[in-house]
Amino acid sequence: MAEKIESLLKEEGVYHPSDDFREKALVKDESIYSEDYEQFWKRAAEEVDWFEPYSELLDDSGAPFFKWYIGGKINIAYNCLDRHVNSWRKNKAAILWEGENGDRVVLTYYQLYREVNRFANALKGLGVKKGDRVTIYLGMVPEFPIAMLACAKIGAVHSIVFGGFSALALRERIEDSQSKIVITADGSYRRGKVVPLKENVDESLEGIDGVEKVVVVKRTGNEINFVDGRDIWWNDFIEGQSTELEAEHLDSEHPLFILYTSGTTGKPKGVVHVHGGYNVGTTITTKLIFDLKDEDVYWCTADIGWVTGHSYIIYGPLSLGATTLMYEGAPDYPSPGRWWDIIDRYGVNVFYTAPTAIRYFMRLGDEYIKKHSLSTLRLLGTVGEPINPEAWRWYYRTIGKENCPIVDTWWQTETGMIFITTLPGILPMKPGSAGKAFPGTEADILNENGESVGLNEGGYLVLKKPSPSMLRTIYGDPDRYVNVYWSKFKGCYLTGDGARKDEDGYFWILGRIDDVLNVSGHRIGTMELESALVAHPLVAEAAAVGKPHEIKGQAIVAFIVMKVGVIPGDELREEIREFMVKEIGSIAKPDEIHFVEKLPKTRSGKIMRRVIRAIAEGRIDVGDISTLEDESALDEIRKK
Ligand code: PRX
Repeated sequence: MAEKIESLLKEEGVYHPSDDFREKALVKDESIYSEDYEQFWKRAAEEVDWFEPYSELLDDSGAPFFKWYIGGKINIAYNCLDRHVNSWRKNKAAILWEGENGDRVVLTYYQLYREVNRFANALKGLGVKKGDRVTIYLGMVPEFPIAMLACAKIGAVHSIVFGGFSALALRERIEDSQSKIVITADGSYRRGKVVPLKENVDESLEGIDGVEKVVVVKRTGNEINFVDGRDIWWNDFIEGQSTELEAEHLDSEHPLFILYTSGTTGKPKGVVHVHGGYNVGTTITTKLIFDLKDEDVYWCTADIGWVTGHSYIIYGPLSLGATTLMYEGAPDYPSPGRWWDIIDRYGVNVFYTAPTAIRYFMRLGDEYIKKHSLSTLRLLGTVGEPINPEAWRWYYRTIGKENCPIVDTWWQTETGMIFITTLPGILPMKPGSAGKAFPGTEADILNENGESVGLNEGGYLVLKKPSPSMLRTIYGDPDRYVNVYWSKFKGCYLTGDGARKDEDGYFWILGRIDDVLNVSGHRIGTMELESALVAHPLVAEAAAVGKPHEIKGQAIVAFIVMKVGVIPGDELREEIREFMVKEIGSIAKPDEIHFVEKLPKTRSGKIMRRVIRAIAEGRIDVGDISTLEDESALDEIRKK
């Protein structure tokens, strides 16, 4: 497959940071790229506080089950809170929060610390112990980081499920993580409407055991069902709890969280991250890549339900003692000026968002943006998918006023921190390329035989060395961890992305080369979509593929064979779309559903997704079809 990858994005111009930015940047010296790997990670570890120092940097004796900072005792919540409370930052704003309806809350480090302690004490009172899993299913409310940090503080493991996931998707994650506690809200606001979070939780828990308590934040005030003895309001839960609590002294390898992400099978993977390495990795990258200084207001527009929110709204920025902004709602609510208004009102300096949002605003025209000054911005970032050069330049000109470097940051749920980007004070930017491997990491492009390919040749993007922030395993399935990431090429971590590397060592990401789609910067596996589609009682077979989409990057296209006797039509199409929302969530709603008589399959019965994808993308050459069982199936799909 690697040989077939062709680079689509061609380099268009090179941009340099301004002299002013360079002079003030935290990293000015390119020698950071030649720093010794071990030295780099030892120095990075000085950015966080340790209760007990580590004795050895890396233990690779059980590879690929790597261990970092051996013997060190640490707690990421301590680094995000206590250490700042014991410093001049005590009264500094930690979180600036704005609700979709205009509500505003500022939490200083001290206030956040006190709230976290109260909640952590309440969890302890309930018998939540070190290592116990707690599922968090919330909208973007201040209680969200409070709950996460409280878990971390007592050594409990949080498993956050994005609030846009359905009850069924939530149930699967609660069951897999064996959570005893679920933290949710009555509802969350999205475009002025209420998303019924608690109702979803109730549905997800029907018929399963194990969850002892559901803690409910009151946010939207909609009526909800309350299960006696199980459900408790957040405010009642923390009532009377002490605002002081010493952080657990945890082993650096103690698990911090599980976060589920899509892979190439029907079942999402529970990616496990640990306190020590993840704390070091997120802190050093936040500092150096976002060039974050104490006086900055930093805003990452992600949802905490995704890894970007974990690492770069909460853990990285708070560990650094930064001021991080959280916005609850939709980017264009009540008008497309909302984000730009927030930037001006809070004086945001560093802004981190996704290409899909950039393309969305680009298409709306500049009128909503011109009304705002955006003059406080000094650095911009993107994440989630390759950014097309046109959108990059629009972002640079219209949002950054040609005055802000852009860091295009490549990473994954599994890597925990950014791995490929440009350090903004020293490296030029090439629109469409994420940049170079971050110091202390090593990336390469391999062909099918595991050999490094030549410059600008496409291939498999791999990481040649482990780094402290990387996942430790897949929860409950260590074999899958080894098979998915460490088996294809000896000693290399397989990212699942295709890429090429140019003569300057810049990586150009070409997208996923496995059966995973990237819809609006979010990963969704085609197998996951297909197993949800065939769960519909009238569907016999299904194939899901991605198709380029102007705003979302990729759109989901489903080809469906109905059960015998079913007459498909628009009504059924809509029903199946809604069914997918119920099965997984809105991100799984197919943009197009085509009913067909049969799917193209190999003689051994495997759906030829590659061929379907080629047709959906409008390619004339669909590649090798010598193993195709029945060519008429292709003609049918072509017609659709
Ligand atoms: O394909 C890459 C794409 O997003 C995938 C990781 O998705 P997820 O684990 O959901 O994390 C998203 C946020 C970190 C990668 O395998 N991706 C992410 N960032 C970029 C990217 N592709 C190109 N350029 C990026 N900057």
